[in-house]
Amino acid sequence: MGRGGHGFDNGAVTTVLPDSLTLGSVRVETPVVLAPMAGITNAAYRRLCAEQGAGLYVCEMITSRGLVEGDETTKKMLVFDELETVRSVQLYGTDPVYIGKAVEILCADHGVAHVDLNFGCPVPKVTRKGGGGALPWKRGLLGEVLEHAVAAAAPYDVPVTMKTRKGLDDDHLTYLDAGRIAQESGVAAIALHGRTVQQAYSGEADWDAIGALVDHVDIPVLGNGDIWEAADAVRMVEQTGAAGVVVGRGCLGRPWLFRDLAAAFHGEDVATLPSLGEVKTMMRRHAELLSEHMGEERGCKEFRKHITWYLKGFPAGGELRHRLALVDSLASLDELLADLDDAAPFPERELGTPRGRQGAPRKKVVLPDGWLDDTDGRGSHLREDADEATGG
Ligand SMILES: Cc1cc2nc3c(=O)[nH]c(=O)nc-3n(C[C@H](O)[C@H](O)[C@H](O)COP(=O)(O)O)c2cc1C
Repeated sequence: MGRGGHGFDNGAVTTVLPDSLTLGSVRVETPVVLAPMAGITNAAYRRLCAEQGAGLYVCEMITSRGLVEGDETTKKMLVFDELETVRSVQLYGTDPVYIGKAVEILCADHGVAHVDLNFGCPVPKVTRKGGGGALPWKRGLLGEVLEHAVAAAAPYDVPVTMKTRKGLDDDHLTYLDAGRIAQESGVAAIALHGRTVQQAYSGEADWDAIGALVDHVDIPVLGNGDIWEAADAVRMVEQTGAAGVVVGRGCLGRPWLFRDLAAAFHGEDVATLPSLGEVKTMMRRHAELLSEHMGEERGCKEFRKHITWYLKGFPAGGELRHRLALVDSLASLDELLADLDDAAPFPERELGTPRGRQGAPRKKVVLPDGWLDDTDGRGSHLREDADEATGG
């Protein structure tokens, strides 16, 4: 199944890179997963990335309660592109019964082929209710949620995976137990973001933890955190033995990273360095896909948040950037993009540098009262919000 292994070459240990990823019934031609990102990984963005390289492109997170109760916002997020052959969705929830029902709906009514469960969200609004990254502290509850999800997906032969963090903070690590529980519950793979909830997006991801999880479980482990270039993904797999990688912020404003990643896992060292003219073409394509999926005005407004990422490091005046940030039609986008210099080369100093959310660690992880008092928590989940959409 293309899992990384170790070989010996002239006495030195070399890693055989995985060239594919198998998650139960789903085979991915490159061991690369687009990280679910709320507000980013909608149908248009997934299509844009899929046009660049092979991989598994996960829909932004939806809530189990929203899905089960037929919430309108949730329904609008469950949109797939016509060319999306493998429908992959991340589900959030804290209630095993709701999760089970939601998985059933995804499989039966939406043709979903892969369900990922969110146990990594660090947002206080979520952890306060014992959801996201807070939930794995309750080992018993985690097992219940996973078992319900796996049981609901089984008749459809749909693999369930989970995505988590190292733990609440350095004194309350949960990932090794989570890996064991995932394996015992029939989960097809576990993705680990090498940060704690307390770290949020600050500091550096701990890839040693990913390696420790690989050693601890038999199911595939997907490594996540701080992959900015294809070479980082190769390094992560070599260093940890992970079965594949999950890439989030590195592809913001750089969907071509998926091209480089696909090449890297097939033995080629490619670093795509598009000129500003090529970036403009990609921006236009992104806005066009968003407009197709959401209508032009909403699509162009959605596109605004991507502009800074696309133009990071390129010459573009403050005034032009400001006007781009207010774009509301494809025609006005074209007009503004025309003022950019097609010949400007890719700003190589941006390579390997962080983009997107970083921020500071949280002073304290917000948890429900008494959450740390026991580690079981079976039957003790709090009611989740139907419209939670903050992500991970
Ligand atoms: C804007 C944004 C939204 C996110 N939303 C989610 C989410 O809905 N579910 C989730 O599991 N993780 C979410 N994440 C976390 C990413 O999936 C990923 O774990 C994290 O960014 C670390 O990977 P990276 O260093 O490759 O970005 C989000 C991250 C960002 C930046």
